[in-house]
Amino acid sequence: MKILVAVVGLASVALVVLVAAFVLRAWFGAPFDVLGFGAPPAQPIAFPHTKHVQDAGINCLFCHRNVTTGKAATVPAVEQCMFCHKVITGTGQAGQYSTELAKLKQASDNKEPINWERVHRMPDHVRFAHEPHLTFFTLPKDKGGVGLEAAQVCQVCHGDVGSMTVVQQVVVNEVQVGGTVLRGGGALKMADCVNCHRQYSAPTDCVICHH
Ligand code: HEC
Ligand code: HEC
Ligand code: HEC
Ligand code: HEC
Ligand code: HEC
Repeated sequence: MKILVAVVGLASVALVVLVAAFVLRAWFGAPFDVLGFGAPPAQPIAFPHTKHVQDAGINCLFCHRNVTTGKAATVPAVEQCMFCHKVITGTGQAGQYSTELAKLKQASDNKEPINWERVHRMPDHVRFAHEPHLTFFTLPKDKGGVGLEAAQVCQVCHGDVGSMTVVQQVVVNEVQVGGTVLRGGGALKMADCVNCHRQYSAPTDCVICHH
């Protein structure tokens, strides 16, 4: 009996130490296996945000339609791309597609989806949703929010995607919008999420972010 108690005791100490080590590592954000940094993944079609956002002035929400209402931002389906690219062929000539847009046209003809590679991805044990972040940061200042436009909110965590030829995860320490300096999402590690939640009095219980 004594031995059993000792073994159980030891096991729970070991468990506590193990959990503590995990939490500490997560808390201080030791950037070991940081997915998304370094070389961005190769995409099936070289999609330039620059040409769509900076040059053509298309709003982030036109393509990432679910971002203000759901968990995932979502990327447009082929039909949505073809809404413009039936006409815009990339060569200036009708029916004559550029190399990258020919891949899009082919997917559309074959009714196949495009399997975009994910750039930002949380581990399975993490719960993240875009909607509450967009709701909070677009809420007017006099209602306790930050009063940004939805398309301005993205940069807090993703940086200036509109100027990226290839989307890549970046570390965002702070963001200037108008005269206001906002805390950024850092490297989107646990400490970055928690620090920002503290600053804006958002909840920090484990179950808010973990399954
Ligand atoms: C609202 C209109 C619009 C939508 C929707 C749209 N595009 Fe475009 N796209 C453009 C414009 C405008 C250009 C610039 C054309 C140019 O420079 O000749 C462009 C350029 C491109 C290029 C670069 C072409 C080249 O050869 O340089 C690619 C690739 C592309 N789009 C893919 C896509 C994909 C994939 C989607 C869907 C996820 C999409 N586009 C949705 C308007 C749109
Ligand atoms: C014309 C459609 C279009 C517009 C406009 C657009 N995007 Fe995208 N976005 C895409 C497509 C297609 C992808 C997937 C391919 C890629 O990663 O380059 C993507 C990928 C992304 C990703 C990476 C997703 C991941 O896998 O982690 C982010 C972040 C992003 N967009 C943010 C933005 C922001 C912010 C804006 C506005 C400044 C914007 N996008 C405007 C079509 C668009
Ligand atoms: C508070 C930080 C934060 C903000 C603000 C934010 N994102 Fe994200 N975004 C993330 C995280 C974290 C992920 C990875 C989510 C996952 O793996 O579950 C992500 C993933 C994505 C993806 C790929 C997966 C998906 O959800 O479809 C796209 C596209 C995207 N974001 C676009 C946007 C756009 C557009 C905006 C602004 C309208 C925006 N994000 C604002 C943190 C943020
Ligand atoms: C730039 C600041 C900021 C960053 C970075 C940030 N959050 Fe948030 N988060 C907020 C705010 C503000 C709210 C909204 C609180 C409210 O509704 O009052 C929120 C809400 C949430 C909610 C919903 C909480 C609820 O009440 O149900 C979840 C889940 C969440 N965040 C997870 C994350 C995760 C995971 C990360 C890191 C990948 C993250 N957040 C990064 C500011 C941030
Ligand atoms: C605001 C969101 C948020 C809250 C609150 C939060 N976490 Fe996390 N946690 C994350 C994110 C995001 C990751 C994944 C990224 C990383 O490893 O930093 C993570 C990772 C972890 C990991 C895995 C670390 C690893 O190295 O694989 C553990 C364990 C963990 N969290 C425990 C906790 C505990 C215990 C609490 C409560 C005291 C907590 N978390 C509260 C967002 C959160």
